[in-house]
Amino acid sequence: MGTDVLVLGSINMDIVARAATIPSPGETLAGSTLEYFPGGKGANQAVAARRAGAPTRLIGCLGEDGFGAQLRGFLDGAEVDTALVRDVQGPSGVALIVVADSGENSIVVVPGANALAAADQANADAFASAAVGIAQFEVPVASIEAFFARCQQAGVLTVLNTAPAIDEPGDCLDLADVLVLNETELAKYSGAVLHDDTAKAEIVAAARDVRSAPTQIVIVTLGARGVVAVAADTVTEVAGRAVEAVDTTGAGDCFVGYLAAGLRAAPPAGPGERALTEALTAALRQANLAASLCVQSPGAAPSIPSVADLPAAP
Ligand code: RIB
Repeated sequence: MGTDVLVLGSINMDIVARAATIPSPGETLAGSTLEYFPGGKGANQAVAARRAGAPTRLIGCLGEDGFGAQLRGFLDGAEVDTALVRDVQGPSGVALIVVADSGENSIVVVPGANALAAADQANADAFASAAVGIAQFEVPVASIEAFFARCQQAGVLTVLNTAPAIDEPGDCLDLADVLVLNETELAKYSGAVLHDDTAKAEIVAAARDVRSAPTQIVIVTLGARGVVAVAADTVTEVAGRAVEAVDTTGAGDCFVGYLAAGLRAAPPAGPGERALTEALTAALRQANLAASLCVQSPGAAPSIPSVADLPAAP
């Protein structure tokens, strides 16, 4: 069992306009600022795992354009290992984001180079040195399936963040030891009708419905309401933190990266024994804390805090 976090995922340049509200269909609004931030769910999660203290490698693709060079420079500066990030012909991934005064956002992602990200960019050594492998749905499903299969062969814990929710996830949910979903994604994959104020008992029931194996852990992020984790016989809740959100972009990624870094300390004891442990509970608390700081700064990857910046747990 290695000690690294290995991330397969997207790398985007986020082009972010701020406006009072998110425009409705057909509406044109005056914005106040336009900024460029490094982002992409894979890159954000890799930065989060690294800032949480884990040696972290990213498998992904960048275009041979100006954004590609800038994004690689940012990741290198953040001490994410980019040796497995390939430069490919064509544009880099781009996300067009509108952030409202409330801190909420809307995002359109144009995948570009991310559509070519593949597990075979990594050799056996990369998997052998990993403890936890993370993927999300901004790279092809077939690549995620191959990545998780290789993680399993190497005894690497697999974490799937089901963002953004897609219609045909293939075997990805089944191949994950740990699923991390937000409420929207949980509703899609469980079929449950969920609202912002749905009772936690119903969230837990929906989480149990998406569990594909008795050993799988399902973690539901509820924004300001905190986090619920459902394992075989255990339900763990972590309360949300009341903070003033400036920009929620990347907060989910911050959570996932910190969680993965924390899970390195909680390797599965063996097949059938992936129960919630004290280490997982601690990882949930720290990930929740980090995400609450992340929403208080603008941008995705740049707003992810380092572990040294986290306040002591209450
Ligand atoms: O999760 C936030 C990320 O989603 C942004 O950084 C953007 O690139 C999109 O992929």
